[in-house]
This record gives sequence, structure tokens and C-alpha cells, in this order.
Amino acid sequence: MDNHLDNGLAVVALVPAAGRGVRLGAHAPKAFVEVGGTAMVRLAVDGLIASGAVDRIIVMVPADLVETALALLPGSSVTPADTVQIVVGGAERTDSVRAGIAAAPEATHFLVHDAARALTPPRLVAEVAAELRAGHPAVVPALPVVDTIKSVDAHGVVTGTPARSGLRAIQTPQGFAADLLRTAYATDVPATDDAGLVELLGAPVRTVPGDPLAFKITTALDLTLAETMLARLAPAPIGPLS
Ligand code: CTP
Ligand code: MG
Repeated sequence: MDNHLDNGLAVVALVPAAGRGVRLGAHAPKAFVEVGGTAMVRLAVDGLIASGAVDRIIVMVPADLVETALALLPGSSVTPADTVQIVVGGAERTDSVRAGIAAAPEATHFLVHDAARALTPPRLVAEVAAELRAGHPAVVPALPVVDTIKSVDAHGVVTGTPARSGLRAIQTPQGFAADLLRTAYATDVPATDDAGLVELLGAPVRTVPGDPLAFKITTALDLTLAETMLARLAPAPIGPLS
């Protein structure tokens, strides 16, 4: 793993992996469900390491799965001494991220990356980190939306249709100057992504082109897609010499 500490930077990746995976409905919490024989959390951590853009990784897991995570993630421990540190997450995703932030007082930059985006290309991680190093305080991967998006009221009646050209679907990793994310998380406002909290502070959030492979595995359909894509991405097995 590259070390950026030489130039005064400490890029710490926070990996929320403490959700229950209700929408996937598998036998285990989602981050521990396997894709192509490897747990999602391991695929996500391997991708972060392969990016060469992070100095340390903190993985937030359910309290009852700390031992499981230690076994799944080579070189991990519950102390900050190792490159991959396991900490206990919380009831909501924001609680899990907050626990990760607290475990990295040395961070100058954070990359917050969902374990559920297990197929995220390392190149995308490196691109977000590069924008941080260029001085942008908040960076998120974004893709144009393909569906028309409508707002609805409590009864499901349509109240509006925002112009699709101005909408983006937002992925992870989301990158932040560390103090900005610490300030954003000092409040206790609910949010579905980290940049949403940073936006409330009025900070500019820059987008970079996302990647279809960084999709979030949420439902059984997504898991099937991930299995198929991983099988295609894996190098073909070497056959016997003829
Ligand atoms: N997450 C977390 N702590 C929580 C909730 C979610 O660390 N209390 C993590 C999940 O493990 C996942 C990421 O945040 O990697 C994105 O959340 P989501 O896709 O919603 O996963 P789950 O909450 O596990 O799924 P569901 O909402 O279907 O229960
Ligand atoms: Mg959830």
C-alpha cells in the first residue's frame, strides 16, 4: 500500500459494513455475503488496497461479526497499528461512519466507501483521491440517471418531475478533507450519503465520472448481476498445456 505520509497526507478509507442487508434478504448481513466465493467486504477492501491511494483502512462491522471480519481480512486487527482496522459500527449508517471517523484522528483525508459496492474499480478510488490531493474538499462519483425521476407526496401522487439532465446518481468512494467530514458528522442529522451532510455546511461538492461497476449491491437482482460481472472480470483459468 502506498504511503502518503511523506508528503503530510494521511488518506484513510472508512468502509461501512455494519448494515443488516434487509433488502437483500440473505442468510448473513450483506457485507458478509459472498460474490463469486469472496465476501463483499473483502472485495471492497481489496479494491481499496489495489488503488494504491489509501494509507489505512477502517472497516465498521456488526458487533457480533468482529471475529469473522478479522478472519476474512488478511492483516487486520482491532488496533490502529495495522493497515486494516476493524471497529464496531452502529445502528444507522451515519453511526457507523461516525465510529470510523473517531478511530482515525491522524487522517488528513477520508474516503468513505460502502462494502456493498464490492466491484468498484480501483481506478475510480484513485481518481477520487487524486481530486482530494488537488485540493478539492469534497468529491463524489456521479452517473447520469437513466430513469425519469419524479417526486411524490405521502399518498404516492406525483408532485413534480425535475429535469433529468440536472440529476445524477451518486456512488462511493466519496472523498473529503478530514476536518470537513468531522465537522459534518458533529451534527446528528439523518442522511443517506456523506456528501449530503457536507452540503448542509455549504461546502462545494465536486463530481467525477462514476463507473457502472461501482453499483451498490442492494437486492437479489443486484447480487446476480455482481456474480455475472465478477465471473467475466476474473482472468480465464489457465488450462493444461497441449
Ligand atoms: N451500513 C453500515 N451500518 C449501518 C447500515 C449500513 O455500516 N448501520 C453499511 C452497509 O453495510 C453497506 C453500506 O452501509 O455496506 C450501504 O448501506 P445499505 O446498502 O443500505 O446496506 P444495508 O443497510 O446492509 O442494507 P439494507 O438497507 O437493505 O438493510
Ligand atoms: Mg441500509
